[in-house]
Amino acid sequence: MDNKTLTLLSNYIPASYKITDLALTFDIHEHEVVVKNVSKYVVNESSLEKKLILNGEDLELKSIKINSKLLSTDSYNLCKDSLEIHNPPISFELELVTIIKPRENKSGLGIYYSGEILCSQMEAEGFRKVTYSLDRPDVMSKFEVSIFADKDKYPYLLSNGNLLEQGNLEHNRHYAKWADPFPKPCYLFAIVAGKLELVEDKYLTKSEKNVTLQIYVEPGNEHLCQHAMTSLKKSMRWDEDTYGLEYDLERFMIVAVNDFNAGAMENKGLNIFNAKYVLADPKIATDLDYHNIESIIAHEYFHNWTGNRVTCRDWFQLTLKEGLTVYRDQEFSADMHSRVVQRVDAVADLRNTQFIEDEGPNAHPIQPESYIEIDNFYTSTVYDKGAEVIRMIEKIVGTENFKKGIRKYFELYDGQAVTTEDFIKAFELATGFDLKIFRRWYKQAGTPKCTITSSYDIDKKTYSITIEQILETKYGKKNEPFLIPITISLLNKNGKSLPLPDNKSELTLIVKEQKETFYLKNINEKPVLSLLRNFSAPINIEYNYSNEDLVFLAKYDSDGFNRYEALQKLLISEINNGVNKDNYQFSNSIYEIFEYVLSDQNIDYLFKATLLEIPQLSLLLQKQDVYKFDETNQIKEKLYGLICKQYQEALIVNYRNLHDSKNSNASIRRLKNVLLDILIRSENDIGVDLAYEQFSKADNMTDQYSALLVLRNANHSKRVLALESFKHNWSHNSLVLNKWFAAQALSELPETVMNLKQLVNSELFDRYNPNNLYSLYLRFSNNLLSFHNTDGSGYSFIADSIKAIDRYNPNVAARIATCFNAFNKLDSVRKAKMQSVLKDILNQKDLSGGVYEIISKTLKLC
Ligand code: ARG
Ligand code: ZN
Repeated sequence: MDNKTLTLLSNYIPASYKITDLALTFDIHEHEVVVKNVSKYVVNESSLEKKLILNGEDLELKSIKINSKLLSTDSYNLCKDSLEIHNPPISFELELVTIIKPRENKSGLGIYYSGEILCSQMEAEGFRKVTYSLDRPDVMSKFEVSIFADKDKYPYLLSNGNLLEQGNLEHNRHYAKWADPFPKPCYLFAIVAGKLELVEDKYLTKSEKNVTLQIYVEPGNEHLCQHAMTSLKKSMRWDEDTYGLEYDLERFMIVAVNDFNAGAMENKGLNIFNAKYVLADPKIATDLDYHNIESIIAHEYFHNWTGNRVTCRDWFQLTLKEGLTVYRDQEFSADMHSRVVQRVDAVADLRNTQFIEDEGPNAHPIQPESYIEIDNFYTSTVYDKGAEVIRMIEKIVGTENFKKGIRKYFELYDGQAVTTEDFIKAFELATGFDLKIFRRWYKQAGTPKCTITSSYDIDKKTYSITIEQILETKYGKKNEPFLIPITISLLNKNGKSLPLPDNKSELTLIVKEQKETFYLKNINEKPVLSLLRNFSAPINIEYNYSNEDLVFLAKYDSDGFNRYEALQKLLISEINNGVNKDNYQFSNSIYEIFEYVLSDQNIDYLFKATLLEIPQLSLLLQKQDVYKFDETNQIKEKLYGLICKQYQEALIVNYRNLHDSKNSNASIRRLKNVLLDILIRSENDIGVDLAYEQFSKADNMTDQYSALLVLRNANHSKRVLALESFKHNWSHNSLVLNKWFAAQALSELPETVMNLKQLVNSELFDRYNPNNLYSLYLRFSNNLLSFHNTDGSGYSFIADSIKAIDRYNPNVAARIATCFNAFNKLDSVRKAKMQSVLKDILNQKDLSGGVYEIISKTLKLC
């Protein structure tokens, strides 16, 4: 099979055989692992496929037996990526011995080494790098795993499920045997062997089963596991309280490794994590790191039900588990912390990545129809838009009905591999709702856009709202109307909600047609419309708000999200209006709201911080057909320069009060650092001085790193000093050093590319470590001003890195390659420069299917 073959959803057929049981033996040696695989195959009567073709990559086949008899070479056909067995019996035992070389595997997929820890990542298609098998999620088997290895080098030998036995052997070797009682697809298999330290705790489930909780880390990191452990226990409690879902094995293990392509992986009973999302203490981890650890631990834990107990029939169904599990981790975070800030942050992320993806060359529905490389579809669309789609279902059917639907889902499908269609069906059955039109969200790409108008008829006391869906998309196709829940409220002059039907203060309009008008009766005064409250659907809306309305909503809307939204709308429109106008006078409304929020005593620090945060450039560009990077940034900087000048004293006083407060916490730190980010824009050195002082004296990573980030664009000796001192303090800690790479990758100073080129060649940078690659290259590609520099230097820098990384880690290379997704929004000069590096990548010999897929789609639009 060519590595550029297209797989189609419409071609799905069930596998020709079932594998009921798999017994795997791993004999670990210094330079190789001998893998013995004894599997029970039974023909799948319901399949139209008659051939038995097993997947396998980078394997050295030693022997192959059927029912204990060696197979002659004419009974099978061995190709580069497959092993076909000719005329297999209806049921049989297949025994395969293969050799793999984990030390040579730098792809982060299959079995590989992270440092001296042997570990694994199977999802999506890594099992074929372990042994010949049917590597697809609808083949579910019971696994038994035996591991043999040297006792000193590999004191711990771990796999999924329950430990059956372990013991010593000759020549200083030992073994462990594991069995997982739950049939599972092979993408949930995991193996870990190495010198680790164990941090242990216990959890008593609601039904009083005792679960042993274990976190394994590299020696010396034991003291950094407390937050992860607490997060795990909170997640377990939350899933019991919210959905009645309990853990189902005797132990739950987490292993943290330094080299990991993704954030983490939900292998049954043995989650493997990127160490970045486990290890924390206030000195090495920021408040954001703490937050991410908690939510990723929850995410992987929640997969035990949404993903593992009920899994995907095929990889086109990925959002079945990922969208749902992201929705669950977001709700968990909202319950643990501030619900409104959780929502604001999630929507900002969605707009920053998913909205851009959905307009770009790689736009796809949450359930794609085809792929060359499935790893390219672990996207913000499948994950985050997928979560929004679940949230809309909750909005449409109501929270209690939603829980009924989830219960039905498990009742119908526990232990099975199913589709998104099955998921929707469970909700229809449980609630009686008709979700026919709603299903379009699974099949249509593109961010829907609605234009909305409203009018008030004073005589009839009727308020009418007309909503029109624009169905043309940016990439050519015309969509069918979506079913969109749009939550609204009507506010009177005092910011109070006018009573709506059933005396409710808000109402969700269910839009189904291309154009619809809704009439609200008995509205006694002309209201201000609060639209799309709490971002009830992942869409763009256009409504002709006056600046006065926006000021009013930003001050008084009882929906916190919409206060943020009104402020954003005002900023985005003012900044866009000012682009390329030398003497643009910003509306007084901006100052009015800024002042109001800054001195608002009725909101908490965290919410205040999100309201005052400077909007990211990518959000400001979204309305532009051709991105004006520098011009837009200039006007944004001008605005914040003016704000800084106007409120400098108040900002400093507020900053100092927060900074000096005795009981600092994450909310205080976030607000304080937002103020610092504005103060750095002052004409004098006050901002630089404050940042440098905060940096030098910080006793926690949040303050230290925030100050370093704030300083990153300062053409000032204090930036150089701070970077030097950060390196000096943290060069021994590869995890923290990622922040140092990122701070430089995000710098907008002209020397950035040159500096980064030196960094990647320094001994501090490990090109095999995915975190290093992301912190430097991916971060740089988010640094829009530098990446899109008109001289093209940013493009060639990234293109060269993609070509180099693709040779050993195609997944990471393809992920970086998505950064060219602004291609069709570029001016002609940039477009030509980008086009030439893209063509150059495509000309690379032996390019991976993954990078080929991303880049060729990008170029098609030229
Ligand atoms: N299932 C994992 C998670 O979301 C991520 C696996 C990433 N795999 C990949 N092929 N990109 O929790
Ligand atoms: Zn996931």
